[in-house]
Amino acid sequence: MAGVISPRKVIDKEIFNKNERHILEIGCGNGEFLVQLSEARKDYTIWGLDISNFALKKALSRTKNLKNVFLVKSEGKWFLQWITPSFTLDEIYLLFPDPWPGREKRRIVDTYFLELLTSTLKPEGRFFFSTDVEDYFTNVRELFKESNNFNIVDGVNAFYTKYERKWKAAGRKTYSLSVVKKGEFRDSKTYKTFLNYPQKVSLSEDTLLNLTGLELRTKDVFFKIIKTFKSTSGILYKTVFRFRSTGQKQLFLIKNGEIDILPVQAEIYPEPLVEAIKLIFS
Ligand SMILES: C[S@@+](CC[C@H](N)C(=O)[O-])C[C@H]1O[C@@H](n2cnc3c(N)ncnc32)[C@H](O)[C@@H]1O
Repeated sequence: MAGVISPRKVIDKEIFNKNERHILEIGCGNGEFLVQLSEARKDYTIWGLDISNFALKKALSRTKNLKNVFLVKSEGKWFLQWITPSFTLDEIYLLFPDPWPGREKRRIVDTYFLELLTSTLKPEGRFFFSTDVEDYFTNVRELFKESNNFNIVDGVNAFYTKYERKWKAAGRKTYSLSVVKKGEFRDSKTYKTFLNYPQKVSLSEDTLLNLTGLELRTKDVFFKIIKTFKSTSGILYKTVFRFRSTGQKQLFLIKNGEIDILPVQAEIYPEPLVEAIKLIFS
């Protein structure tokens, strides 16, 4: 793999659909586990996601010569919601995710995460989880127990990763489980993802320059204009878009009467974001 690819490129180049068998690791850190997967599963495409450039750089140095490994800079739930086609993943790994002590609400596994597993795993597809934090483990196990869509498999061996080694060396216990998605669930994702969606703008310049602070909230969506800048190339907006418990900052530029996502972001348009932009700017 030549470098870290953007989520946009994953869709644009249809990389996802080239191989029928896919394994995803969320929060791949230094890439050690991707190397093991690549060796053990030669006929699978292995996806490694991380949000940290530092981690991805390390992972890239380990995996750059592995033909079946792709690294993507993306938040895990964002990737499952907006990039992964429905029912395509054979296995998903989440090994030693950040425990966010004192800010447990930021933990990646929540009921929405389980819905995303249901809509992206194949029938009988597997999810693997490990942590050194007992209450995170108990909480995750409870979420799966309450959901109707998975069978829990206890007694899964630990996975050999940097953090597994780190906590074992410190004398800490680690906990692992895996779950198998039951049968064929058809509650696939309802929203589309667009690659381009430039939107005509009909507001006056005065209005356009006074939109900072504007917010849109619905049950699942939060959209806010954080800052507005006027530059020689047009009006620039720094915004935040959240969908349920995933989201990210996006930059937009108004140029020649159209608003478009800034190419430097090289990002994608989730359908609810398009709806929010339409509501505000047209
Ligand atoms: C504690 S490290 C574990 C790394 C590796 N899995 C291991 O076991 O050695 C957690 C990693 O997850 C990444 N991360 C945290 N939250 C994430 C998210 N929501 N989506 C993708 N990666 C995330 C962090 O940048 C970090 O590299």
